[in-house]
Amino acid sequence: MRIALSTGGGDAPGLNAVIRAAVLSALDRGWEVLGIKRGYYGLLGEDDVVPMTREMVSGIGHLGGTILRTTNRGNPFAYPVPNGDGTFREVDRSEEVVANSRALGIDAIITIGGDGSLAIAQRLVEKGMKMVAVPKTIDNDVSGTITTFGFDTAVTTAIEAIDKLHTTAESHDRVMVLEVMGRDAGFIALHAGVAASADVVLIPEIPFDLETVVKKIRSRDLAGRRFSIVVVAEGAVPIGGEESILGPSMPGQAKRVGGLAGPLARTLQEKTGKEARSMVLGHLQRGGQPTGYDRLLATRFGGEAVRAVAEGKWGHMVALQSPNIVTIPIVEALREVKRVDPKHDIVQTARALGISFGD
Ligand code: F6P
Repeated sequence: MRIALSTGGGDAPGLNAVIRAAVLSALDRGWEVLGIKRGYYGLLGEDDVVPMTREMVSGIGHLGGTILRTTNRGNPFAYPVPNGDGTFREVDRSEEVVANSRALGIDAIITIGGDGSLAIAQRLVEKGMKMVAVPKTIDNDVSGTITTFGFDTAVTTAIEAIDKLHTTAESHDRVMVLEVMGRDAGFIALHAGVAASADVVLIPEIPFDLETVVKKIRSRDLAGRRFSIVVVAEGAVPIGGEESILGPSMPGQAKRVGGLAGPLARTLQEKTGKEARSMVLGHLQRGGQPTGYDRLLATRFGGEAVRAVAEGKWGHMVALQSPNIVTIPIVEALREVKRVDPKHDIVQTARALGISFGD
């Protein structure tokens, strides 16, 4: 048996722990393991495919990033090819992926990625490739799994940031606006904001009214709490407004969401008369060591993925359905994107604690 591993999309802390667990579990069965570099680039002749050894994965479980590297611009079904005049066209190179994988004698691929990678995997399965997926994203927006690895690390990083902003905000009687990642989902903002006692949490799933946020800050002032912490998800939207987009993406890349913390802080300063500052936490949330929770989850996912390959569960994704790791059809996970339920207990408790969602 010769299997191959690939990591695609944005990186997430825990990728190396999945790679380590999958490689060691496969070698334990006497299988051969290949590593496809940078998503599918390795199978498109744009990068390498390398044999994975025990030594290569030794001591990487606690490291962020991915030793296989990754890309969010390598969809083989819509591969960006330059026209020579600065514009790009999308070309379907999926047949090359199938042919090169066959030429390398690859029996099955374990693909580790977010919603984009899962959709690509499903289409390759429909072309006859034998694939098992491992869901990955700091945004936690993949359906069918209670959580994805990387999310806990991102939330922990955001909590540390909010804790630090708290002490300086309080010293200066300031409003501090912290923008966190999550694309169209508010999980990072919600979990970090509630765990770190933010005063306002703005998420895409609950459109906000600026005047409500202003009122919340004023009421805190009147109560003698002269500072406020506003945590805003990068995809948050004002009622009747649109999400903020951060300039143009690279060819083949999804939209870049975010950039609303600065304008929001400026408006809050104007409207409340209080000094307001903003900070965008950005890619710090994707970097660094995975938390213990993420390392264990990633390791469990890697081990289960190899068991799924052994059982021939093509087109399946490993998932956490506590307390167990299970496998579900990828199509089930793709049916809908996971979003914060505005009636979720965390939202209800947050409201009871006085946290405003700006609605
Ligand atoms: O999906 C993970 C994520 O970090 C999102 O939270 C964010 O919007 C996006 O990726 C950023 O992507 P990039 O690294 O391409 O800027």
